[in-house]
Amino acid sequence: MTDKSSNQMWGGRFAAGPDAIMEAINASIGFDQRMAAQDIAGSRAHAAMLAKAGIITDKDAEAIREGLLTVLSEIDSGKFNFSAALEDIHMNVEARLKEIIGEPAGRLHTGRSRNDQVATDFKLWVRDQMDAAIAGIEALMKALVAQAEAGADWVMPGFTHLQTAQPVTWGHHMLAYVEMLARDRSRFVDARKRMNESPLGAAALAGTSFPIDRHMTAEALGFDRPAANSLDAVSDRDFALDFLSASSICAIHLSRLSEELVIWSSAQFRFVTLSDRFSTGSSIMPQKKNPDAAELIRAKIGRIFGANTALTIVMKGLPLAYSKDMQEDKEQTFDAADSLMLALAAMEGMVKDMSANRDSLEAAAGSGFSTATDLADWLVRALNMPFRDAHHVTGTLVAMAESRGCDLPDLTLEDMKSVHEHITEDVFGVLGVHNSVASRTSYGGTAPSEVRKQVARWKDLLG
Ligand code: ARG
Repeated sequence: MTDKSSNQMWGGRFAAGPDAIMEAINASIGFDQRMAAQDIAGSRAHAAMLAKAGIITDKDAEAIREGLLTVLSEIDSGKFNFSAALEDIHMNVEARLKEIIGEPAGRLHTGRSRNDQVATDFKLWVRDQMDAAIAGIEALMKALVAQAEAGADWVMPGFTHLQTAQPVTWGHHMLAYVEMLARDRSRFVDARKRMNESPLGAAALAGTSFPIDRHMTAEALGFDRPAANSLDAVSDRDFALDFLSASSICAIHLSRLSEELVIWSSAQFRFVTLSDRFSTGSSIMPQKKNPDAAELIRAKIGRIFGANTALTIVMKGLPLAYSKDMQEDKEQTFDAADSLMLALAAMEGMVKDMSANRDSLEAAAGSGFSTATDLADWLVRALNMPFRDAHHVTGTLVAMAESRGCDLPDLTLEDMKSVHEHITEDVFGVLGVHNSVASRTSYGGTAPSEVRKQVARWKDLLG
């Protein structure tokens, strides 16, 4: 592939082609071919602008724009022959354009450089991924809201320290993830707005002496405006870091839900049954149904965080403007984006298909003295006891129940009175899990009435 007698790309200045190792370390075509559609869109916008500004003829611009569509169709149909000697997608496309249309192809690169070209392509690619992330998050939010609506009043244990704390509702637990995902979505929406400035026309680093119209190309490519500083435009990759950090935080949330699904689907919990469509079997243990998708989503955070860290380190300390280091921005970002989109889709599928086991949830909700706080609150309300004293009395009753191997509602009134003589029959009204959750009507609380309000709010917002 390496031509030793001349250099395919740099012509005049170079007498010899690159060493094979040089080509191997230098070429990005192996991965940046994923930006072919963005590259061609950018070049088509640039050519139209060059003609409008009178820098090239309409005829040449038309030939370039048509030729680029031919190149795109060759790439889309898998017929394109990518060449490592041509280094990257930008040079590959331009070289093929030259083969197709001849001389006018050489006029396309007027008033731009690969530095603004690659920044533009990569921005367009990342912007698409932000849109995909937003759509994927919304789809998952809808699936969680549907679960919340179905089980707005199903009781389950709420945990702190993974120890039974107080009963909560299934709907409330599902909506906790909806809130997290809504913040994830807003991080992408926010980052997308911030990044939407066009680098095209910043040229190598200093702008150009040609009378280009950067506003025109910005608009054609769906940017809000051209980036205002050419040095910044070619050397900024913080839009990718915004994407990767928003992806990382979203991946944390997905990993937490995954962890819960792994625990909940175990034989010891049986809180949920995952569908066959989102489980795997074991090659040796016939009884097994494994939550592999949940485990893999839980693990994807490693790659996404890895990409975030890698690009942070690539960018740290780079002088202005462009340095070749920045070619290392793509593979990591591509991999993180693929991982995130797959994780979101798999989680949506799993959540849609899973069924909560209402009876197991309810049985677990009542165990572990989960209504002890309700008992203490009752002592405060009914007997006007200071909360600290009520806490102590309740603790004594919990210890009694524990020593008998029963739950709080199984104690008799006499048992209760032996600890505090003023306790009455009414106390049993608060020891049931349904009463417990129904009483927590504070804003954002777990009461089914509150959950239903939040479900309605989310249905309204998500459409
Ligand atoms: N393949 C390069 C990249 O991904 C394109 C820009 C090259 N620019 C340059 N001055 N060598 O960053």
